[in-house]
Amino acid sequence: MGSDSLSIVDNRTGQKYEIPIVDGTIRAIDLRAIKKDKEDFGLLTYDPALLNTATAKSAITFLDGEKGILRYRGYPIEQLAEHSTFMETAYLLIFGQLPTTPQLEQWEWDISHHSLLHTNMQKLIESFRHSAHPMSVFIGAMSALGSLYPDARDASCVECRLLQAQRIIAKVPTIGAFTYRLNMGWPMNYPDDELGYVGNYLRMMFKMTEHKYVPNPVLERALNVLFILHADHEQNCSTSAMRFIGSSHADPYSSLAGAAAALYGPLHGGANEAVLLMLEQVGSVKNVPAYIDKVKKGEAKLMGFGHRVYRNFDPRGKIIKALAYDVFKEMGANPLLEIALELERIALSDEYFISRKLYPNVDFYSGLIYQAMKLPTNIFTVMFAIPRSVGWIAQWMEMMRDEDLKIVRPRQIYIGEAAREYVPIGSRKA
Ligand code: CMC
Repeated sequence: MGSDSLSIVDNRTGQKYEIPIVDGTIRAIDLRAIKKDKEDFGLLTYDPALLNTATAKSAITFLDGEKGILRYRGYPIEQLAEHSTFMETAYLLIFGQLPTTPQLEQWEWDISHHSLLHTNMQKLIESFRHSAHPMSVFIGAMSALGSLYPDARDASCVECRLLQAQRIIAKVPTIGAFTYRLNMGWPMNYPDDELGYVGNYLRMMFKMTEHKYVPNPVLERALNVLFILHADHEQNCSTSAMRFIGSSHADPYSSLAGAAAALYGPLHGGANEAVLLMLEQVGSVKNVPAYIDKVKKGEAKLMGFGHRVYRNFDPRGKIIKALAYDVFKEMGANPLLEIALELERIALSDEYFISRKLYPNVDFYSGLIYQAMKLPTNIFTVMFAIPRSVGWIAQWMEMMRDEDLKIVRPRQIYIGEAAREYVPIGSRKA
């Protein structure tokens, strides 16, 4: 075999194996040939958090965690944040190319014409308790949405997939806004297709009794940027959940409900809410050193810090920090900003954080921006789920086209009892 291979000697048997290396990876299945004896199942890899396992070939997002690089379809995130809109970026993620003007107009028309929700969905959302966490409602509503589109259950229908994508991208802001209105006890605002995607979302969230709601352009632009930054992030926990569930040919609504459930956790998309709760708990700049000490003793986490793949800086964090100041200029500074800046300052100069390569991630400042926009803390993760739905659906469409697609079925290392005889209940000892 040529040099793009790995030679392995199994010291249990003295056998030598040549494993091909393609794209910097070996195929885990090739290790199965390595056996102690004929009866042996073959060698497995143990990687419970998939720390070093590529689960997909993808052409959507490129990420270099060491260099802090993030690109969608080859375009640097910094350029998209500066020049693009969320709708244009969504087109890019789904179709692979930036749209021409007619293509973008058609795309925006397609999305805006799917943004209404069936009244059954509204009734379902309103049947949740008024204090329900918006992410619980979002997850429930997404899985229920699939029941309205039985055509989505046919995984072989290639033409249907784009339609499901359009429906999902169009309806997630409506669902998101309804979860907020439910919490507030306010009547739902229906979509208005005179506004753009983000402006319409702001209107569905905030329109009260005024005849015409005009979105604040600074907030509309800031939210466009935030949505762009959150749109995709390759094979993270929630995207992997989308792919895992979708691999069974479940409909994309059910798969997306599962992805949203994964996002809800505080180590993933729930971190933006957790950051705010942490800042409120710290309470004042003078308490920051004591909180940092707690973190270093392992008694607390510095939420919004650290990332599995970024080991230098999170490029989204840099953009968000700058954006925060634009929003504060418009809406007034967030009193928690001082605490966040002090936490960041101390953490970035402390050996504990430096040696573990812990830096502010996308969630450290996004919550402060949402709060300045007058959004309640419990809606923050929905603000992440709406744009990430584009990434989830782009990844699902790519997976469904992949000739390597098979139902995901990992292996385990069994550590339980060996075979034993059933004992009747009367003969069992405590
Ligand atoms: N605060 C304090 N210590 C930390 C933190 C933190 N936020 N993150 C990691 N560490 C420590 C961890 O305790 C470990 O220390 P030691 O080596 O002494 O045991 C070391 O750093 C390595 O951490 P890890 O847990 O092995 O890292 P991971 O890659 O498994 O976890 C993470 C990544 C994002 C889950 C974690 O950094 C974390 O919990 N951060 C806080 C939650 C957060 O902000 N999540 C949002 C991630 S970005 C948005 C998204 O994409 O979802």
